[in-house]
Amino acid sequence: MGEHIHTLFSQEVVETRIAEIAEQISRDFAGEEVLAIGILRGGVYFCTELTKRITVPVVLDFIEASSYGAGTQSSGQVNITRDLIEDAAGKNVIVIEDIIDSGRTLKLLLEKLQSRNPKSLKLCTLLDKPERRVVEVPVDYIGFQIPDQFVVGYGMDYAQKYRNLPYIGVLEFE
Ligand code: IMP
Ligand code: MG
Repeated sequence: MGEHIHTLFSQEVVETRIAEIAEQISRDFAGEEVLAIGILRGGVYFCTELTKRITVPVVLDFIEASSYGAGTQSSGQVNITRDLIEDAAGKNVIVIEDIIDSGRTLKLLLEKLQSRNPKSLKLCTLLDKPERRVVEVPVDYIGFQIPDQFVVGYGMDYAQKYRNLPYIGVLEFE
């Protein structure tokens, strides 16, 4: 069974949009410093492209989480499998994710980060699939909203493949 990837957002389109978000974040945090937290592994490409265009001081860190209990239970559980090195207390935290689908992982992760008493806590995602949302998540910065399709590239994978594609494509099976 072959896989085919149909381009949804070219590298140029993605990077133009990332530059716009970086400008907005730089304006919103003028005179402040931000702690940018990339979510491993999918958020890494977006996180690096975004943060290198932010003009206020940035401290960069990463977190990795895996969720359990989604599907059959109304409230799942999230385990932090790789925690921050930085202390989030008193910081302007911006969580940087590749895509928000059901919202379960992010909701629980944001609750955990909020309990560390940051000065502010914002969520930035490259893609959003609002039709798929199961739990409410407040999203502050969104690259693109997409319909319910499975996408790869720019950090996003299918069975760990395609993360390194420099564009975003829809994965089709033929
Ligand atoms: P959720 O919002 O907790 O359901 O999970 C979102 C996570 O599912 C994302 O961080 C991705 O790792 C993964 N995901 C959701 N939709 C896609 C997709 O279309 N392509 C690749 N990964 C996806
Ligand atoms: Mg992810």
